[in-house]
Amino acid sequence: MVLVVGEAGIGKTRLANEFAAWARAQGAEVLSGQAFEMGGRLPYQPLVEALRKRLEAESTPEDLLDDLWLAELSRLLPELRVRYPDLPAPTEDELAAKIRLFEAVARLLDALSTRAPLVSLLDDLQWMNGASLDLVRYLGHSWKEHDSRVLLLGTVRSDQLEPRSQLATELSTLGRDLPVSQVPLQALSQAETLQLVQAIAGAPSAQERETPLGDFLFVQTGGSRCTCWRRSSCCASESGWYHGGARMAPAGWSRPWT
Ligand SMILES: Nc1ncnc2c1ncn2[C@@H]1O[C@H](COP(=O)(O)OP(=O)(O)OP(=O)(O)O)[C@@H](O)[C@H]1O
Ligand SMILES: [Mg+2]
Repeated sequence: MVLVVGEAGIGKTRLANEFAAWARAQGAEVLSGQAFEMGGRLPYQPLVEALRKRLEAESTPEDLLDDLWLAELSRLLPELRVRYPDLPAPTEDELAAKIRLFEAVARLLDALSTRAPLVSLLDDLQWMNGASLDLVRYLGHSWKEHDSRVLLLGTVRSDQLEPRSQLATELSTLGRDLPVSQVPLQALSQAETLQLVQAIAGAPSAQERETPLGDFLFVQTGGSRCTCWRRSSCCASESGWYHGGARMAPAGWSRPWT
């Protein structure tokens, strides 16, 4: 499992999506779901989202799961019953229902991962509720048992990952089954801000102009990746930004360019 951790707006989702797109281009199967803030009240919401999108695109789900497990999965995805009206009823035993549901999801993901390496992207883990985390832990255990080709990629806000928080505890339990690595995203340093400006300007030789611009952006944005990117792009597209060699801030900037 890989956890992308960082403050709000630092670029976690963007990075995870870029990776997922890359993995898909390499031939991996990618499932993705995003927890939303009210997800705490909606059991399994990001996982349902990920599975629903995938099964809608699947022409023959019956090749992945037999009827017994499709029937259990139909608790989460009732539309399966429209597609397969003859599915048996899922178990009525309340105690067995949850474990059967978890097993159905595990078998589905296992079947997918035998076709191609599977990347399961769960965005905004901080909003996943206990039920969803239980399911993820069950999946982790199953992947370990089957030595499955699965990468669980999660994003989480750093302020929600305090050492003794419930989420941190749940994730460390998951770590007993899956090796977990963290990718911390931090604000850009002054030197990295300059590199970004140079990359956008596409002219590293014009350092005498870009160094002050990089410094200016760093002070203005505190190294926020998103704001740096937007403002540098804006500078690059502003006509007259380097007008006659005079250094001027684009309109709307709060500090005069010196
Ligand atoms: N490397 C990048 N290049 C260009 N734009 C970026 C980059 N990283 C992030 N952004 C942009 O910054 C904005 C915020 O990024 P993103 O949504 O990924 O942040 P986040 O860390 O997931 O925030 P949150 O914690 O609120 O979910 C988005 O508009 C995104 O497209
Ligand atoms: Mg995000």
